[in-house]
Amino acid sequence: MTASLDDRAASCGLSLSPLAANVGCRIDGIDLAAATDEQFSVLMAAFGKYGGLLMREQELAVEDLVGFSGRLGTLDHAPLTQVGRTAIEGFPEIYLITNLMDREGKPMGALGNGEAVWHTDMSYLPSPPDASMLYAREVPPTGGNTFLCSMMAAYDALPEDLKALAGRLRIKHDATYNSGGYVRQGMVEHSDPRKTTGTFHPAVIRHPETGRPALYLGRRRQSYVEGYDLDESEALLDKLWGYATLPENTYEHVWQVNDVLLWDNRITMHRRDSFDPAHTRLMWRTQIQGSGAPKAYAQA
Ligand code: SIN
Repeated sequence: MTASLDDRAASCGLSLSPLAANVGCRIDGIDLAAATDEQFSVLMAAFGKYGGLLMREQELAVEDLVGFSGRLGTLDHAPLTQVGRTAIEGFPEIYLITNLMDREGKPMGALGNGEAVWHTDMSYLPSPPDASMLYAREVPPTGGNTFLCSMMAAYDALPEDLKALAGRLRIKHDATYNSGGYVRQGMVEHSDPRKTTGTFHPAVIRHPETGRPALYLGRRRQSYVEGYDLDESEALLDKLWGYATLPENTYEHVWQVNDVLLWDNRITMHRRDSFDPAHTRLMWRTQIQGSGAPKAYAQA
């Protein structure tokens, strides 16, 4: 008989506690700077099952975070800051998500104190990043909460006819705007989503490791269903998005310093609340490169 995931976790000193009904799991007993191969294998199995993982009370130096993140795959390098530097000298893999400003009054990282709408990271690319991770260094007393939703549960919630229809469609993932609503560098705004830069991906994808189907929507703004009239595309996207963030399929994370939150971009989306700019929020972020183009559930 194969041991259950909880038994495997217990056998290497870990315990798993689901964070919500359908997404996210907290792992206790792990030190991410020194996780054994057995613990890492349990963590990865939990990651495939729950889509998001929370590890609290992690005392990590920058090299520990980069070292742990690198066990999941090749890391993307963060874009240079506005003043042409890496955010942390010597660690091009670290991206700052913060409202801090440098001495010249320029943002030291991304997103400021604003809200970020539901999205999957960089799904406008042909091979979007597999996973992303935030490590909380400084958090405001309230606000700035991060939400995850399960796109596997969203798919499961679709009526059968909509599942069948979505399984045959491709959706354009627009590159124009970031999740804070700002135009990305080099992009041109168009009111017609058919004219924007982006990539078509299957609307229902198969997770390459677990084989489970997930709805794959990216972000709502300037999204477009291939081959549809604009009105029909908008109506269908509204319908699909209605299932994407059902309250029972989401988790709201209230941050504590030293939390690590990791999510799988192929089977979850995330968003975050704004917060009072009088307080600092500082996250170190890493991103695991895409292992390939998302594959249609039906064809994979
Ligand atoms: C992100 O969208 O990558 C950042 C989310 C957050 O700041 O909580």
